Amino acid sequence: MKISVIGSGYVGLSTATVLAELGNDVIGADIDKDKIEKLNNGIMPIFEPGLKELVERNIKEKRLRFTYDNKEAIQHAEIIFICVGTPPKATGETDLKYIEAVAKEIAETVGSYKVIVHKSTVPVETGEKVQKIIGENVKEGVDFDVVSNPEFLREGTAIKDTMEPDRIVIGADSEKAVEIMKKVYGPIKAPLIITDIRSAELIKHASNAFLATKISFINAVAQICELSGADVEKVAEGMGYDKRIMRAFLNAGIGYGGFCFPKDVQAFIKISEQYGYDFQLLKATHDINEQQKELFVQKVKNTLKDIGDKKIGILGLSFKPNTDDMRFAPSVYIIQELQKEGAKIKAYDPEAIERAKSILNDIEFCKDSYEVCEGADILLLLTEWNEFKELDIKKIKSLMKNPLIIDGRNIYNPEDMQKEGFSYISIGRKDVV
Ligand code: UGA
Repeated sequence: MKISVIGSGYVGLSTATVLAELGNDVIGADIDKDKIEKLNNGIMPIFEPGLKELVERNIKEKRLRFTYDNKEAIQHAEIIFICVGTPPKATGETDLKYIEAVAKEIAETVGSYKVIVHKSTVPVETGEKVQKIIGENVKEGVDFDVVSNPEFLREGTAIKDTMEPDRIVIGADSEKAVEIMKKVYGPIKAPLIITDIRSAELIKHASNAFLATKISFINAVAQICELSGADVEKVAEGMGYDKRIMRAFLNAGIGYGGFCFPKDVQAFIKISEQYGYDFQLLKATHDINEQQKELFVQKVKNTLKDIGDKKIGILGLSFKPNTDDMRFAPSVYIIQELQKEGAKIKAYDPEAIERAKSILNDIEFCKDSYEVCEGADILLLLTEWNEFKELDIKKIKSLMKNPLIIDGRNIYNPEDMQKEGFSYISIGRKDVV
């Protein structure tokens, strides 16, 4: 099938690449000329495991190419995916200006029937807005259908999640569009949920809000564990065996970050407000998440007493492992708060240092974890990259000024750390000192 994907960010790029891999004739578009030139030369704009190989293979086999000319992409396709950004406004509401602009461009360009699919995370009723914009601007007699097909991929596992999704949601009010979408996703084995457009849009916001709430719930439980002397890892394990609960997303830590949960929770609160519903549960989800970072900084302050003259080593900057994404990373707040107290920061991250340099100032970026440990008064673990789980703990102890770790991701076993002679403080577990 001839498919175009407008917007080549995480969602658009993964979608375009996987649809090409499935055998379609795909054009990926983006207004960022530099990004497109790089992509056509096999240079990836983001770090995403497996993406580069797949893009290169599909470009070589002529199933995939990229353009900065949206019109060229629109003319090429029978199915047009809109995957442009939906950033938050200062009020927390979703800014739909990019979606609206693309909808208008599609309307002005198309000359025959198209299925127009919005994949970006959008407020309920955006489908109708897109229908209206296209309807008002399209040439007379040209038919089209709008479909909501939300994306559920995670950064770091974007390709795998797109190839093997838990479900595919298709929101449409036309049988013809549903049949075309079924054909697009035919090669992917996953439950297909066919629904109206509004329900599809809500499935996405409700899913992200639920997952964020699950994280805030376990973070709240972690506080009770600290106060009562229980162990949140054991509590999560015990809860997780219940099939109605499950263990995933019950990892206590320094709170969720990234470009999805923080903005989508805020947007969903706003959407609810606009319908006249006060979504108190989600407000608490947000508040607990903010508190989690503050409590972590408080732990550092309580442990070090005087931060002013201390050298603080940071392991992990990205909002989660296997990505270089620093957007809404808890590390940014934590580092900036410690710098306000006068701390000297040394930091290492396997992928995010370049991006961190444009956000954070006055940091000594190191080439590896051991360089961070040299002369450090304390080590803070902020992202659970696998390589941090395999560090030589004895070597770390010999390099640090004090054997003191505060682990914001609970990656080490407190008893083991105690045996190695560390003072080890983590989240929702007993401190060993
Ligand atoms: C999230 C959703 O998981 C995807 O399904 C969705 O498609 C995506 O948002 C989106 O809307 O585009 P992502 O932001 O890539 O994906 O990352 P997650 O793996 O969900 O992690 C989000 C944050 O939650 C991270 O900061 C992570 O450290 C934190 N987290 C996650 C926890 O603190 N505890 C957990 O148990 C799980």
